[in-house]
Amino acid sequence: MAAKARIAVIGAGLMGHGIAQVFACAGHDVTIYDPVAASLDTAKSRILANLKDLGDDVAAVDLVTPQGNLAEAVRHADYVVEAAPEDLPLKQKLFAEIEGAARRDTILASNTSVIPITQIMGGLKQRERALGTHWWNPPFLVPLVEVIATQWTSRQAIDWTMALHAAVGKKPAHVKKDVPGFIGNRLQHALWREAVALVERGICDAETVDTVIKACFGRRLAVLGPLENADMVGTDLTLAIHKTVLPDIESRPGPSPYLEALVAEGRLGFKSGEGFRKWSADDQAALRSKVLKHLKAARVSDS
Ligand SMILES: NC(=O)c1ccc[n+]([C@@H]2O[C@H](COP(=O)([O-])OP(=O)(O)OC[C@H]3O[C@@H](n4cnc5c(N)ncnc54)[C@H](O)[C@@H]3O)[C@@H](O)[C@H]2O)c1
Repeated sequence: MAAKARIAVIGAGLMGHGIAQVFACAGHDVTIYDPVAASLDTAKSRILANLKDLGDDVAAVDLVTPQGNLAEAVRHADYVVEAAPEDLPLKQKLFAEIEGAARRDTILASNTSVIPITQIMGGLKQRERALGTHWWNPPFLVPLVEVIATQWTSRQAIDWTMALHAAVGKKPAHVKKDVPGFIGNRLQHALWREAVALVERGICDAETVDTVIKACFGRRLAVLGPLENADMVGTDLTLAIHKTVLPDIESRPGPSPYLEALVAEGRLGFKSGEGFRKWSADDQAALRSKVLKHLKAARVSDS
């Protein structure tokens, strides 16, 4: 991997501008493309505001070049990461155009949240250099990037991408099979499924579910993963617990009818003021700010 790589970020929205920021802060040249002028024109000012807020060197923003032409954005890139809207035909079309304009050896990555990488990259000619990189929001505060291989991705492309992300201060995780939800969202939504079921079954209310997690094992999760925890207490005890608890845990294959009813009733969460719970504008702002404060403090303690 070149010490200074040429990075092209496709899509300058919430994720794209943050991903560009991370690469620029590590000294890489970043070209950012977006067909929507309002997004492209504000990318640098959003990055600058983030850098000031974090107390990072604002000079990084000078390494970011907005570009309104896709072919020009990727022509000289060593690495292209796409963060365009979550729409399969749009992503397929984008990668066909990117492949037509980029070098044959450029690594191509999609930051899709849930679309299988195989479906996005299946139509490419050089599929061995195509993969997924799943960042988490905000990209400059959450360390993990899942690096997802398809059946065609070369080991070399995975190793290069893992090294690139480690070198910019991220924690890359190799996902060896292209499964829905990769690793992080599978784990997260296994927990959410049971959280919804606890409310649906009247075992507790929504606020209590969140309190139990935040005041209990959530406190340990950042430093103690579930399999470390299983080894700590013993696999024999874990087996005994699973024999008693797993038969009663939610295992329906689809979404909960309780969740479907919330959506049907227009209880959409923050955006409608009520979901599992009621949310005033002040409550929403307070929770958002609490999460950001927590993530910033974790970044300081990591460094
Ligand atoms: N928001 C998250 O928390 C999150 C986390 C991980 C992954 N993702 C994924 O990242 C991708 C981007 O999500 P986001 O939250 O940044 O969305 P966003 O709506 O904030 O940004 C998308 C950007 O893509 C631009 N765009 C529209 N058409 C385009 C095109 N043809 N080519 C390039 N850009 C185009 C839009 O103008 C916009 O600026 C999605 O695939 C999403 O699923 C999002």
